[in-house]
Amino acid sequence: MDDRQTKDLIEIGRNFMKSPDWTGSMTSDQDKKLPQPALYHEAKKGSEVIALPRDFEKLKLNENLFELLRSRKSRRIYSEEALSLLELSFLLWSAQGIKGKRGEKYATLRTVPSGGARHGFECYVDVKYVVGLEPGIYHYLSGGHALEFTGTQSADERLQSVEGQKWASRAAAIFYFTAVPYRFEWRYSIFAHRIALVDLGHVGENLYLAAEALKLGTCGIGAFSQSICDRVLKLDGKNEFTVYVQPVGKVRDREESEESAFYSFVTEEGL
Ligand SMILES: Cc1cc2nc3c(=O)[nH]c(=O)nc-3n(C[C@H](O)[C@H](O)[C@H](O)COP(=O)(O)O)c2cc1C
Repeated sequence: MDDRQTKDLIEIGRNFMKSPDWTGSMTSDQDKKLPQPALYHEAKKGSEVIALPRDFEKLKLNENLFELLRSRKSRRIYSEEALSLLELSFLLWSAQGIKGKRGEKYATLRTVPSGGARHGFECYVDVKYVVGLEPGIYHYLSGGHALEFTGTQSADERLQSVEGQKWASRAAAIFYFTAVPYRFEWRYSIFAHRIALVDLGHVGENLYLAAEALKLGTCGIGAFSQSICDRVLKLDGKNEFTVYVQPVGKVRDREESEESAFYSFVTEEGL
């Protein structure tokens, strides 16, 4: 890409970050009374569904918010120790769990806020070490708080999906968040995409704090491979595509320096 093209794309990116004036600037599909999209994906016909435990009171959670905010950091050095199914369940619930509904089909209320309660995300987890789960990729069925097995990816694909960041591919589980853009667009039309990304930050931070409360580690990944993630998650890349990735694992030593992992990624891998 030459300098001119780079400058043009930067300009587009800056404008995308700004909020256009709302008044009179759009008529959404909701305004046009077009049918509302489903609030979440249901399990595919015939797929294997695994109920997730909800007895979170059994977890040893650090519930001190001040301590969590102070200790939260990106943790990239994971052990091979497995997560329990209850821990995985809690992480999924924290990131995308449904706590209630508005109307029969109008909106879900979740552990995270979302502009207009549109919640246009799905979550998939590539499980490596979770007690009681075969390694493979699972789709989180937020509607029933369950998992749906969707297939597997090779160790190579796992590594490529995070653009060669080796530390990430060692995690017990990799969370892949996807966007289903029409869920936002139906209501917000041209405003949808900026709002969706603000929403996504809340999702990521909830996962950071939930992991911290369980003494696990996570780290946001912006440098993921769009094409590989979309392919392994079996997404069409248009009506649903990957937007954020977060590996989670047990941490070998909570005081261990993260600097080396971060800088080896930046320098040795050339990103
Ligand atoms: C959206 C986002 C994308 C990120 N992408 C990467 C990444 O691809 N690789 C990486 O090593 N760290 C990544 N990070 C972690 C940041 O480098 C980290 O948050 C930052 O250095 C501050 O450190 P702290 O989270 O420990 O406070 C990402 C963080 C966020 C929020």
